[in-house]
Amino acid sequence: MIINKAFRINELGHLEIGGIDCVDLAKEFGTPLYVLDEQSIRNVCKRYVKAAQAYPDSLICFASKALSVKAIYKIIQSENLGTDVVSGGELYTAAAAGFDMDKVYFHGNNKSYDELVMAVKLGVHCIVVDNWNELELLNRVSRDNNNAKIKCMVRVNPGVEAHTHHYIQTSLPDSKFGFLLANGSALEVVKAIIDSDNLEFLGIHCHIGSQIFDDKPFIAAMDKMTEFAAQIYNNLKTPVKELNIGGGYGIRYMPEDNPLSFEDYITGCIQALKEMLKTKNIPAPRLIFEPGRSIVGEAGITLYSVGSIKEIKGLKKYVAIDGGMFDNPRYALYQAKYSCILANRTNEKPVETVTIAGKCCESGDIIIENANLPKAKTGDILAVFSTGAYNYSMASNYNRNLVPPMVLVNQGKAQYIVKPQTYEDLISRDDIPEWLK
Ligand code: LLP
Repeated sequence: MIINKAFRINELGHLEIGGIDCVDLAKEFGTPLYVLDEQSIRNVCKRYVKAAQAYPDSLICFASKALSVKAIYKIIQSENLGTDVVSGGELYTAAAAGFDMDKVYFHGNNKSYDELVMAVKLGVHCIVVDNWNELELLNRVSRDNNNAKIKCMVRVNPGVEAHTHHYIQTSLPDSKFGFLLANGSALEVVKAIIDSDNLEFLGIHCHIGSQIFDDKPFIAAMDKMTEFAAQIYNNLKTPVKELNIGGGYGIRYMPEDNPLSFEDYITGCIQALKEMLKTKNIPAPRLIFEPGRSIVGEAGITLYSVGSIKEIKGLKKYVAIDGGMFDNPRYALYQAKYSCILANRTNEKPVETVTIAGKCCESGDIIIENANLPKAKTGDILAVFSTGAYNYSMASNYNRNLVPPMVLVNQGKAQYIVKPQTYEDLISRDDIPEWLK
């Protein structure tokens, strides 16, 4: 079971998060329910920001694909973080939350003309250019907007292998993201940006993958990126003003997971960079880290009610919950592992190994294989840990299930930050053509 400071077992033997009994949360707000502890998010932000101060000009940017809702942008802004957005929708949400646009980095491997116009009009800090088509689009956007000078970084694929799930590796040579260093295309695009009257070259970015437990691949990426910065400086006579090393720091999903602390990641990267700047003799860039999962992941749990229980003698026992792949598709996509507990019976010892199944019409709709639990009963409240990142943000209405609401808790207070969907919401954009009426 994952225990951080946000969790406690109270006198009733119930799990508490942020000072509130999960059984009470389930009663008041219903299930399935995403619950996020505000203090946990703030603590992680503070630790990141403090560790990054070892480098004079640094910025921690929250990769908001992990969780893009207005209240989160408010929290991270108040902790002095920037943010990365990857779509018009994330950008719109950040803007609606009043996020400081000068701290927004716009990513994505297929940004549309309209998204780029929106970003330029809102005044985002910079666009992280992923491909040649985008460069053409950006020149057009600039021309169509009174030749506005658009600040750009270049998404580089440094070709560093990180040991994580294949689907969340982003730096293999055949990755869909960015420009390869190895074949010279990254340098070509930097030159094209420097030569363009409409664009301003700010720097380079890479992101090598996600849920990485070790700092070695980050330092290897840093080495490639500073080598590239030296190449740009020496050959194109232009300094790299910003170096963004991406995100990817791993979190604990299972008790045995043991990622490096944020401080260790950040300090390791900063020390390595300082040495590389000296040996490669290049001006010091602003250093940007872009964690997503590690900012919100462990701060979140999902509460479910146990429904049907089915034992197939000698084979398997299913405990079905009122959620599933529509609120957490990560097992279905990546065979991701999670740990869980019966929030209303935490003092009871596990006596059986069961499969926690969702309610979608899909055999692969599993949340946890091999969960060790006390004998679960219909009506129990199941808490699944570390669901703060890439759960709500990847949720869907599959089978026309409602995406669960989300509650923020803070020292005994609880309030919706995402209100419940209704069936009316589900059909609100459906339409029936004249000829079917
Ligand atoms: N920066 C860039 C450019 C990224 O593409 C990502 C994640 C991040 C930062 C943040 O990475 P993090 O610190 O969260 O690992 N849906 C997958 C994860 C996909 C991550 C995509 N990019 C999952 O549920 O595991």
